[in-house]
Amino acid sequence: MSSYVVTGASRGLGYAFIVHLASIPGNTVIGLVRNAESTRSRLVADGVNNITILQADITDRTALKKAADETTKITGGKLDYLINNAAFLSHISAFKTLGDFNDDPETLEADLLDSFRSNVVGVTHTINAFIPLLQSGTAKKVANISTGMADIDLINDFHIPIGAPYSISKAALNALTAKYNALYAAPSLPLSSRILFLSISPGVVATDESGVPPTPEQIEGGKAMAAQFKEYAPDFSGPISPQTSVEMVMRVLEEKSVEKGDGGRFVSHKGDQRWL
Ligand SMILES: NC(=O)c1ccc[n+]([C@@H]2O[C@H](COP(=O)([O-])OP(=O)(O)OC[C@H]3O[C@@H](n4cnc5c(N)ncnc54)[C@H](OP(=O)(O)O)[C@@H]3O)[C@@H](O)[C@H]2O)c1
Repeated sequence: MSSYVVTGASRGLGYAFIVHLASIPGNTVIGLVRNAESTRSRLVADGVNNITILQADITDRTALKKAADETTKITGGKLDYLINNAAFLSHISAFKTLGDFNDDPETLEADLLDSFRSNVVGVTHTINAFIPLLQSGTAKKVANISTGMADIDLINDFHIPIGAPYSISKAALNALTAKYNALYAAPSLPLSSRILFLSISPGVVATDESGVPPTPEQIEGGKAMAAQFKEYAPDFSGPISPQTSVEMVMRVLEEKSVEKGDGGRFVSHKGDQRWL
């Protein structure tokens, strides 16, 4: 069967990815997290005992190199799938516009840089650390988990000014995906050595495990987003579960290929540009 590395596997979608992938007999599943002990404890509590959890903040190149070396020992130097799921989701700017920071440019600058450091630079370091393993793998597929909020047509057509640092960093992630496709799926390379890079949006997913009640700003922002979602997709009936999202994302990742011309593309959990 196949081997998988998933980043940001401690909670939310990342945790759902590793549990789902490990439920398929024969898979080798490795989760990268910032706090290995707590994720291991969670897996034990959930009765899952066939996942390896490794410590790696994706902004830490030394930790990523160590995680790649550990993975090499487990898989014999190969990796089939890398799922770049970890992301910085800013609570500061999620429901604010760029204009809301006119009097606080330092906070805006820090938020933009934090978003870029994790969602672009961190993913770059992760891919570079695991590229030798992917080149030796069989499936040769990398999913960069993106978001419909990075779709420039959507932002323009529905006038979505909030969450700018996150959207901008994920749009840059989509460009990063294309750049890796240009490098590792170039027509000059033998077909068998080309690696598929895809940006995939997972849909709107119910991943908040904090149990913290939303602030009035979050409630108002959520209502405004829901109204825009209704306009964009009248049949939208609310967030999907992490399990459903993961199954849909994996189906898309299975179907897409370099041979079909999918390399470097930005698609949704439905395999096209329908984000909801
Ligand atoms: N949920 C949605 O509706 C939705 C919609 C569109 C796209 N997405 C994308 O889906 C992915 C997962 O989202 P989610 O909702 O599951 O988010 P989440 O619940 O906030 O989880 C984020 C994960 O990323 C990890 N992480 C953050 N920064 C990291 C770093 N520097 N190094 C390593 N791990 C780091 C977190 O680890 P800690 O536990 O250590 O903080 C956590 O495991 C993200 O890429 C997000 O942009 C989600």
